[in-house]
Amino acid sequence: MKAICIQQAGKLDSLALLEIPAPEIADDEVLVRVKAIGVGVQDRWFMPKIAKFPYAIGIEAAGTIEKTGKAATHYQPGDRVMFTSSIQPKGGVWAEFAAVREEALIRIPDDLPFIQAAALPVAGGAALESIRMLGIKPRHTIFMAGASGAIGTLAIQLAKARGGRVAASASAKNHDYMRALGAEKTVDYRDPNWVSQVKEWMPGGVDMALAIQPGTGIGCLHVVRDGGKVVTVSGDQLSAERGIHITQVLVSAETKQELAQLASEVAAGRIHVEIEQVYPFALGIEALEKTETRHARGKILLSDTDLAGLHR
Ligand SMILES: NC(=O)c1ccc[n+]([C@@H]2O[C@H](COP(=O)([O-])OP(=O)(O)OC[C@H]3O[C@@H](n4cnc5c(N)ncnc54)[C@H](OP(=O)(O)O)[C@@H]3O)[C@@H](O)[C@H]2O)c1
Repeated sequence: MKAICIQQAGKLDSLALLEIPAPEIADDEVLVRVKAIGVGVQDRWFMPKIAKFPYAIGIEAAGTIEKTGKAATHYQPGDRVMFTSSIQPKGGVWAEFAAVREEALIRIPDDLPFIQAAALPVAGGAALESIRMLGIKPRHTIFMAGASGAIGTLAIQLAKARGGRVAASASAKNHDYMRALGAEKTVDYRDPNWVSQVKEWMPGGVDMALAIQPGTGIGCLHVVRDGGKVVTVSGDQLSAERGIHITQVLVSAETKQELAQLASEVAAGRIHVEIEQVYPFALGIEALEKTETRHARGKILLSDTDLAGLHR
């Protein structure tokens, strides 16, 4: 099968499109024919300790089941699924076929194209978990840092749907976009006055903040009121101050059920998934480099077609 692989241990720039054997599945796994792949900043470096090279990268995709292991009894060949695969020695999902543990699979609603489904597992999981950890109630005010990307696009809409009032940061070209998603106030993280602009919007500070991009945690602390809450998505280490409660996002088992629900909301048109670009599989490395700039709007995907509707 074709796969985009890291060719040598420790050489993260040795990515290439190669022909490698399809993975063998264990009893509790299924073989998925991959139809669309979600690209993330983690893809170049998420790898098991004992990887065999060349190693197919990637952790997030959607496709159809080709074959099931003996103990994988809940799915059948032809079923449409999305998933985040474990980082396993037999390789990731940037390939024609991927071996995936049955417990990681989430069914895709019939009317959700593979391309939209593949955009959901990682960013959707992180957004859902963030929203749950924030504990948003109607009228709560939330600042989101770095919010026009894959996670922020979903987090703004989910917060708004729970009755929250959102202020969000991104560069100025993305302000109309974030307002269209439901943000009430937008600021540019490059503007030295952005903290005071959030405080003009919410004197005394916002109730809570979500630090999505790495390095945004400190700024979030500056805009949160005494006794508020900061949730960090990218592992920023913060020291507590002014009674502010600080937690880090960790994706839990509960999120799988919520992701299935999110897929239904997307299929019904109630939640928008923004797709900056669908690259053909052969241009995966270019797609990864674009994602690594951290300036994509919404999500970047790989597929053999850029016509999502054709790939049902
Ligand atoms: N904990 C978890 O479970 C989990 C799961 C998934 C991802 N993550 C992490 O979450 C982070 C965000 O993921 P994502 O997929 O949403 O990223 P993304 O799509 O690349 O996010 C891009 C967004 O970040 C903004 N941005 C870029 N540089 C910034 C800066 N210096 N300060 C503030 N905002 C900035 C961009 O704005 P402009 O384009 O307008 O400049 C855009 O809004 C990544 O670091 C990822 O590794 C964590």
